[in-house]
Amino acid sequence: MMKEFFLGKSTSSAGKRTRRNFLNYIFGSSLATIAIGYLLPKPSQSRELDLETLCSLYPQNSRCLNYLPGVKAQDTNGKVIQADTLLAKATPGIPFPVKGLPNDSVDYLIIKDGPQIAEYAISPICTHLGCTVEWHPERNHFICPCHGSQYDSVGRVVQGPAKHPLPLITVVVKQNQVRLVATKPAIDPR
Ligand code: FES
Repeated sequence: MMKEFFLGKSTSSAGKRTRRNFLNYIFGSSLATIAIGYLLPKPSQSRELDLETLCSLYPQNSRCLNYLPGVKAQDTNGKVIQADTLLAKATPGIPFPVKGLPNDSVDYLIIKDGPQIAEYAISPICTHLGCTVEWHPERNHFICPCHGSQYDSVGRVVQGPAKHPLPLITVVVKQNQVRLVATKPAIDPR
């Protein structure tokens, strides 16, 4: 029978059906193989994803010595921030606005005593209904312009209707760079 397929000698309708099935099988298998090849991550891609996650959560891990996760933080004028320059002028307890993430949001670094840049920053999305909160230095609070929720300088609710603290993103300080990563930090200290 196989010989008839390739020599084209099968003339019965049953033979034609079988040959059609055979060709459909070969064609279908080829398409499936191509699709799987596109869908499965390449070895280098999956390694990069793993390092991005690992080095965002645990930047001191030995595999992360030369890996910088996320993106460089910029000030609100778009100038890249150096960690030492920032620490020379930032005040502990006062959130410092930064940009850099692809959504173009302004996030807020937390400056701890030391001074030190905290491993997390505040994303200013109100947890009531999603409006963007603004930092009011005269009140020392983030205030939501939509329904008046207020949050303290690390994003804890001090006045509703919001019930939950502001979301956090991850910050990695390395090689004098401040890197923003759009995922939750390993620990929420609040
Ligand atoms: S959306 Fe912020 S208080 Fe309602």
